[in-house]
Amino acid sequence: MKFIVCENYDEMSKEAAKIVADLLKVKKDAILGLATGSTPIGLYKELISEYNAGNISFKDVKTFNLDEYYPINKDNDQSYYYFMNDNLFSHVDIDLNNTDIPNGEAADAEKECEDYEKRIAASAGVDIQILGIGQNGHIGFNEPDSELYMATHLTGLTENTIEANSRFFESIDLVPKSALTMGIGSIMKAKKIILLASGANKNEAIEALKNGMLTTNVPATMLKLHDDVVVICDKAAYGE
Ligand code: F6R
Repeated sequence: MKFIVCENYDEMSKEAAKIVADLLKVKKDAILGLATGSTPIGLYKELISEYNAGNISFKDVKTFNLDEYYPINKDNDQSYYYFMNDNLFSHVDIDLNNTDIPNGEAADAEKECEDYEKRIAASAGVDIQILGIGQNGHIGFNEPDSELYMATHLTGLTENTIEANSRFFESIDLVPKSALTMGIGSIMKAKKIILLASGANKNEAIEALKNGMLTTNVPATMLKLHDDVVVICDKAAYGE
């Protein structure tokens, strides 16, 4: 696990965008694993600028998203489907048929999870997986627990995550209590992983990545088993 410590959020976003843009320049049909939340928004803005400057194209790029609230309608402005269109897809030349997000409208959540995992497995494999990190160390919606799932699954959200995410909703009661999420195994299949973290509220979670221990109580520590993980964080998250 490699750490790149940046001065601030903007520098973190630029650093990550450079790695993704460099990939898209040499591999036009790259497969990206994408995250939502506030952390990757700057990265997506940088990629949109690169696209507008004619430096990269998303025409043949495929994407898989980490997670989606469940149940949620796609037209709900808090759905991750809406988020991805709003923050990236509608600003670049990506073919929406090449984008895939767990379906928060699926009648059968278990089947959707199985199908999603199959769709990832049938692809050529995620080249770069973008991750944020929860204050409690979650990645995707793999929350701290005594056991973690390998594959895409339906999960309940912890009180900590519901409270953290309530900042996007009109009231905490409107935050969905469940989500569909890639499992730790699905995430670990990516060839390269970029984990982004900004702000002092992520410091405790990042601290757990700096030592040599693995714990399911901080799910992100499982990433230490992957041989190509870059943590790009600002000084506040790193603890400087
Ligand atoms: C989002 C996701 C979550 C977030 C995490 C941090 O797709 O999987 O794990 O990355 O909750 O969220 P922010 O960036 O809003 O602090």
